Amino acid sequence: MTAKAAQLRNQGVDVIDFGVGEPDFNTPSHIIEAAYNAMKNGYTKYTAGSGSIDLKQSIQSFLLRSRNVESIELDNIIVSSGAKQSLSVACQALFDKEDEVIIFSPYWVSFPEFVKIAGAKPVIVTTALENNFEPLLKDVEKAISRKTKGIIINSPGNPTGAVWSSVAFRGLLEIAKKNNITVISDETYDQLVFDGDFVPAEVINKNIGANILTVKSLSKTYAMTGWRVGFAFGEKTTIKAMAKIQAQTTSCPNSISQRAAMAALDSDQGFVYEMKKEFLKRRNTMNKALSTIDHIKICIPGGAFYYFVDLSYYYNKIDKNGKIIEDSFDLSNYILDEARVVTVAGDAFGAKNYIRLSFATNEDIINEGISRIKKSLSELKQ
Ligand SMILES: Cc1ncc(COP(=O)(O)O)c(C=O)c1O
Repeated sequence: MTAKAAQLRNQGVDVIDFGVGEPDFNTPSHIIEAAYNAMKNGYTKYTAGSGSIDLKQSIQSFLLRSRNVESIELDNIIVSSGAKQSLSVACQALFDKEDEVIIFSPYWVSFPEFVKIAGAKPVIVTTALENNFEPLLKDVEKAISRKTKGIIINSPGNPTGAVWSSVAFRGLLEIAKKNNITVISDETYDQLVFDGDFVPAEVINKNIGANILTVKSLSKTYAMTGWRVGFAFGEKTTIKAMAKIQAQTTSCPNSISQRAAMAALDSDQGFVYEMKKEFLKRRNTMNKALSTIDHIKICIPGGAFYYFVDLSYYYNKIDKNGKIIEDSFDLSNYILDEARVVTVAGDAFGAKNYIRLSFATNEDIINEGISRIKKSLSELKQ
């Protein structure tokens, strides 16, 4: 889709991009300044493989300050080149051949791949839009076998934007504890939660005691996707194993980005609040626009910057060239061809009835893009 959209743009076609997976904001200037100073002051060498002590201390203070974490030591923390690396090395450290790992669909595209790289087997448990994309506990129980070693959760989620309730978290953590299963909680979007406060899994876990590894990213929170900084915290043995793998793959996260990350975590969080306020406005704008489309099913995202909409009503309809829209790839392609709007097909996330629309763009573009999609859908014939 990206390649096709680029080709159209080269031909001078005005293409709207609802495919983006990153904030359209610039990295705040105090973070850029910190990177510049880091380079001038010699922070241009390898650091410890699991991240510099300075950054780990910033992360430690950040967690103690902002997450009600009672105590956390530096050995509980690993810094990686993005949350993606933390997630991938975590799977390699925790899972082996023959192990099974539960993943909830719709899932972020990389989760099953991390598990497969570790040689283990992803076991998919489906969630429904009608249930805010939260799993039914009976489905989780059914998916567990003697081989189940892990469960990956992601709230707020990509692609759904769904924020799980404390009840859902609690139920899942209790099952994990009972069956001795490690939970990897991907909280990449935890600071982009719109309705109420986000309660992290490790806070809910206080009275349960499941083994949780929490993964966080600076990418979306501080508009730092290209800087590649994320981190994870959890049991020391897991962190140590992750550090060994990471050190043999990338030596260490980028030293300059690590100094920039310290500035992001240590300084006033005003930027994050402003960005969140803007995303909330856009979410509501997109919701209003989407609700004018016939036969669409929506679950309003509680966080992140995506709508994951069910447009399966339009499957088996015919476009003006006589082509039948058979699946989400066909629909996504049709919308690009006819409406000139980039979307992401739900099949990529293990959910064939959906397409993902990102609202990491301004409100005028949101209104224009949805109005074009609406028109193109209305032109499909029985
Ligand atoms: C759910 C989820 N987890 C992790 C990541 C990766 O984040 P990072 O840029 O920190 O590697 C993404 C990026 O899109 C994501 O959507």
